[in-house]
Amino acid sequence: MRKKIVAGNWKMNTLPAEGVELAKGVAAGKGEVCDSVNFIVCPPFTHLHSVIETLKGTAIEVGAQDCATEVKGAYTGEVAASMIAALGCKYVILGHSERRQYYGETSESLNKKMARAYENNLVPIYCVGENLEEREAGRHFEVCKQQIEEVVFNLSEEQFAKLVIAYEPVWAIGTGKTATADQAQEIHAYIREVLRSKFGAAAEECPILYGGSCKPSNAGEIFSKADVDGGLIGGAALKAEDFLGIGKAF
Ligand code: 13P
Repeated sequence: MRKKIVAGNWKMNTLPAEGVELAKGVAAGKGEVCDSVNFIVCPPFTHLHSVIETLKGTAIEVGAQDCATEVKGAYTGEVAASMIAALGCKYVILGHSERRQYYGETSESLNKKMARAYENNLVPIYCVGENLEEREAGRHFEVCKQQIEEVVFNLSEEQFAKLVIAYEPVWAIGTGKTATADQAQEIHAYIREVLRSKFGAAAEECPILYGGSCKPSNAGEIFSKADVDGGLIGGAALKAEDFLGIGKAF
């Protein structure tokens, strides 16, 4: 049985006190969601500490939204994987399309970030996905394959066993336009096939999350698909009720 995960990517939203309130709200309602659903929240760096403190003793885990390529040193403005891990973070989102698109994230930098994450026992949530132009040209399979081959294929078997993948079509992020459940299943199954070609049966254990305008009203149908193991949620993760509602959709 693969892990079921609902992860909230808060992006650059909430002030620290608001983040703590949101985390409290999620913790308060978690009991109403089936125990087998793993909840993760990924606040901005500035409130990782306070959110981790708030969630101590609850089943909700915390992740960061990125980490540095380097171990430490003179890299003004960067945050090292070791710093995140020392706070008690368990996960780190890597390769989100917004970082690829706006901050020049490449497979080269992502290979380094993956290495830093594993050195610090952080579980990477590695994001892949095509943009609208690529989808319309029917290139979505090839784009996802390349994003996986260039980064995930460099992992050892032991590292791969801890990986979480998120498929996030760029055209569905923050647009209100979600992939249909069949579109999600089609590409999730394809991603798993690509993973199987390298890692064999271990690919069956890798959680593949869907992300892109996921909300309580559409999560149930998307999560019902065989190769969809949960969601990476943006906008709907900013309201405890909606985020929990997505978990209840399983
Ligand atoms: P939305 O749920 O706001 O579309 O964002 C998805 C996302 O990018 C999560 O990482």
